[in-house]
Amino acid sequence: MARLDGKIALITGGASGFGAATGRVFAREGAKVVLTDKNEEGVQTVAREIGNAATALAHDVRLEDDWKRVVDETVSMHGRLDILMNNAGVMGTGAAQDIEHMSLDEWKFVNEVNSDGVFLGCRAVIQAMKKSGGGSIVNISSTAGFRATPGIAAYGASKGAVRQLTKSVAAYCGRQGYNIRCNSIHPGMVRTPLGEAVLSYYGELEETAKKRTTTVPLGRLGEVEDVANAALFLASDESRYINSTEMVIDGGMLGGG
Ligand SMILES: NC(=O)c1ccc[n+]([C@@H]2O[C@H](COP(=O)([O-])OP(=O)(O)OC[C@H]3O[C@@H](n4cnc5c(N)ncnc54)[C@H](O)[C@@H]3O)[C@@H](O)[C@H]2O)c1
Repeated sequence: MARLDGKIALITGGASGFGAATGRVFAREGAKVVLTDKNEEGVQTVAREIGNAATALAHDVRLEDDWKRVVDETVSMHGRLDILMNNAGVMGTGAAQDIEHMSLDEWKFVNEVNSDGVFLGCRAVIQAMKKSGGGSIVNISSTAGFRATPGIAAYGASKGAVRQLTKSVAAYCGRQGYNIRCNSIHPGMVRTPLGEAVLSYYGELEETAKKRTTTVPLGRLGEVEDVANAALFLASDESRYINSTEMVIDGGMLGGG
C-alpha cells in the first residue's frame, strides 16, 4: 500500500519548486493532487506531466474568493479533502527590503502572499477536513522564520508569522476534536526560482550560492525532494501524533558548526 492511498491533497504554488516536486511525490504515493498557482500555464504543465492523479487550478492565495472556489472545486471533484500544503510564496518584487529602505507597499505585498495567504488557506479548509474526518495542514515557513534576515525583513517576518500561526491552528483544531493536525516546515536554501532570487539579492548568484553552502554542515544546498519528502511524512498518517512541530530541513545550518 502506498503512503497516501485514498488521500486528496491541495498544494499551492504547484507550478514550480517545492510545490511541483511535492505534487509528484504525493501522486507517486497514491494521492490525488490538486495543484494551484497564480501561474496558470505553469501549473497546468506540471499537472499534465504528473498525469491522471493531478488537476491544476488557477489560484491567487491572497484572495478569499479564490480559496472558496478552489476548496469547493476540490471537494466536488474528489468528495473530500485530507491534506493542504500552504506553499505558495514570494521573496518580494526585487525592490529594497531592508528595514531602512523598504516601502510599505513592498511589506504588504510579501505579507499578503506569505502570511495572509496561509491564514486564508488554513481557515478555508477546516470545514471540508472536518467532514472528511480530519486532515493534515503543512505550512511552508523557512529557516528565515527563526533568525534575523536583515536584507529581506518582510520575508523573515512573514515566515515567523507562519511558524506562529501554525501553532494556533494546531492547538485550536486539536482542542476542538477535529483531528486536523498542523505543522510547519522550515527549509534552508534550495535553488528554486525563489531561492535564486534570494541569493541574487545578496550578490552574484554563483558566489553567494557557494558562500551559503559553506554554512551547511552537510556541505550542500537543499534539493526540492528534500522538502517534498518531509511534506510526505507530515501529510501521511505515519505522523499522526505530530502536531504543531517545526521541521527544519537545512542540512544542519541552523544548528551551526
Ligand atoms: N527555495 C528556498 O530556498 C526556500 C527556502 C525556505 C522556504 N521557501 C518557501 O518555499 C515555498 C515555495 O518556494 P519555492 O522555493 O518552491 O519557490 P518557487 O519560486 O519555485 O515557487 C513559488 C510558487 O508560488 C507561486 N506564487 C507566488 N505568488 C502566488 C500567489 N499570490 N498565489 C498563488 N501562487 C503564487 C509562484 O507562481 C510559484 O509557482 C515558499 O513559501 C518559499 O518562501 C523556499
